[in-house]
Amino acid sequence: MSSSLIIAIDGPAASGKGTLARRVARALGFAHLDTGSLYRAVGVLVLRADKDPADPVAAAQVARALKPDSAILDDPDLRTDEAAQAASKVAVVPEVRAALLDFQRSFAFTPPGGAPGAVLDGRDVGTVVCPDANAKLFVTASVEVRAQRRLKELQERGIPAIPSDVLEDMKARDARDSQRAIAPLVPADDAYLLDTSAMNADEAFTAAIAFIGSKTGVHGA
Ligand code: DC
Repeated sequence: MSSSLIIAIDGPAASGKGTLARRVARALGFAHLDTGSLYRAVGVLVLRADKDPADPVAAAQVARALKPDSAILDDPDLRTDEAAQAASKVAVVPEVRAALLDFQRSFAFTPPGGAPGAVLDGRDVGTVVCPDANAKLFVTASVEVRAQRRLKELQERGIPAIPSDVLEDMKARDARDSQRAIAPLVPADDAYLLDTSAMNADEAFTAAIAFIGSKTGVHGA
């Protein structure tokens, strides 16, 4: 058991969960872990080794060797669409998920820097990684809204993108994430569903903090 307060924020790609999780963590003084970056790191390292991310042996080997303090976790290459696609392929491999589980749980139970709690965002934090989390949120938005957000983000970064391709990629990743046999993307039974289709970041944050406060008594600054 852990004395750390744990907030689980799950949801599909480009739902806004990452931005929300960072903001919630800052407001509460908690540590934050973007669990997707672990899967992205495994995907990128498999590609760099000239292997196929869908190859379970190669992916599992890389995942087992990933160190918590590895520089790859801050590598800008993790943010590319190629990394996202590779991540969703390595994420279906049970040995990869098992190898990354310990890292995620030790972060949640013993947050770095002595923080009183941890916010983890991902796909299966509330269902598999921390089923006893103190507050669980499932952040979502329609696939069209999420594709628009991703397109805007790519444009802001000067990366050329075709809108119909971004939408198709988003649908492909949704399908892989929600239909995989192990730890699929589903809301936990006790998760608070936050549909951000018609919300801006401030509105999503206000709703999240109110829910977390009602579950934990912690309201932040
Ligand atoms: O949240 P993200 O886009 O960075 O996630 C990249 C991929 O990693 C996503 O397609 C599925 C996988 N993932 C996962 O399976 N479980 C998690 N807890 C986080 C991410």
